[in-house]
Amino acid sequence: MDYLNKKSVEDIDVSGKRVLVRCDFNVPFDAEGNITDTKRIDEALKTIKYLLDNGAKVILCSHLGRPKGEFNMKYSLAPVAEYLSKVLGFEVKIAEDVVGESAKALASSVEAGKAVMIENVRFCKEEEKNDPEFSKQLASLAEVYVNDAFGTAHRAHASTAGVADYLPAVCGYLIQKEIKVMGTALADPKRPFVAILGGAKVSDKIGVIKNLLEKVDTIIIGGGMAYTFMKALGYSIGSSICEDDKIELAKDMMAEAQAKGVNFVIPTDNRVANAFAPDAESKIVDSDKIPSGWQGLDIGPVTEGKFTEAIKGAGTVVWNGPMGVSEWEAFASGTIAVAKAVAESGAISIIGGGDSAAAVEKLGYADKMTHISTGGGASLEFLEGLVLPGIACLNDKD
Ligand code: 3PG
Repeated sequence: MDYLNKKSVEDIDVSGKRVLVRCDFNVPFDAEGNITDTKRIDEALKTIKYLLDNGAKVILCSHLGRPKGEFNMKYSLAPVAEYLSKVLGFEVKIAEDVVGESAKALASSVEAGKAVMIENVRFCKEEEKNDPEFSKQLASLAEVYVNDAFGTAHRAHASTAGVADYLPAVCGYLIQKEIKVMGTALADPKRPFVAILGGAKVSDKIGVIKNLLEKVDTIIIGGGMAYTFMKALGYSIGSSICEDDKIELAKDMMAEAQAKGVNFVIPTDNRVANAFAPDAESKIVDSDKIPSGWQGLDIGPVTEGKFTEAIKGAGTVVWNGPMGVSEWEAFASGTIAVAKAVAESGAISIIGGGDSAAAVEKLGYADKMTHISTGGGASLEFLEGLVLPGIACLNDKD
């Protein structure tokens, strides 16, 4: 599918029209209910402001968390409406429901150049079922549909896909940017092209590894998933996390990399711990000698150097997943080293959302990266080469 051939907000007349804009306002909160990271909202502002400046009557919608189809004010979008009111400079009113009387009244009263919001679409169980009747009800609030929720583009839900059956449907600037940067990196990468994959499970990344094996020059594997590859090589991995049913697959992937001339790099040493705890006793051991009762929770210093070396000369880097249990200081060193190496590489650097994006932001390297995706699961599925329903459903340019 040609993602870049999708119509955008600039390809459609929005003046005086009611425009339903699906954003991904699924943002994190602290215990007091304050938004702790507004990146996803800030990244949607370009589209929202364009629509307001062009006289649209904007009706914003999003999900927040997983309220399982029930009204639960813990997952209300009211704090997002409050934040938007501050940054847009006018009150963004929020309806009390999603497609009920309150939403209908608010949507029909919004003035040109102003925005309102409906409540969390996941308060209705029909949303995740992509129920056609519910999609129709959502569509009836507006005359045009804009999807700018890249982070949710891998979900075929009513507000991300179904609604596009009933309205002219185009993408916003955020979706456009995400697909342009990542699509170009995959289709026409500046070489050498280095992929860094981490995180706990091989099973989460099988599709990505397979797709990237066709495109990259080097694949670096860190995080918990590396231990399955070590075991596949016959190493003793102690009590490190391992997916035994993926060992054959790990062998096949390493063989395929070799056949294709892809440099497949796994850790040669590890920081191992005697328990899965932030304050566990730890030491550095080689990958083939992890003692029983010990588990790898981070890459070791020799591996940090090896990974840094492989990243140094890269033309393009794609990174998804931490190198260890990076939320614990004692096991964050590998992820910090990789973040630093990517930031200093001068390569086109693309950071998948989720944990690696959080690590890069926390470490202060965000400004040094070419692109930090707002999508965790969505960026992974895009890198896997899968079709994203939230983009596939949009109208093609003529
Ligand atoms: C995300 O945070 O990855 C997106 O908002 C999608 O959320 P979901 O995994 O609950 O569908």
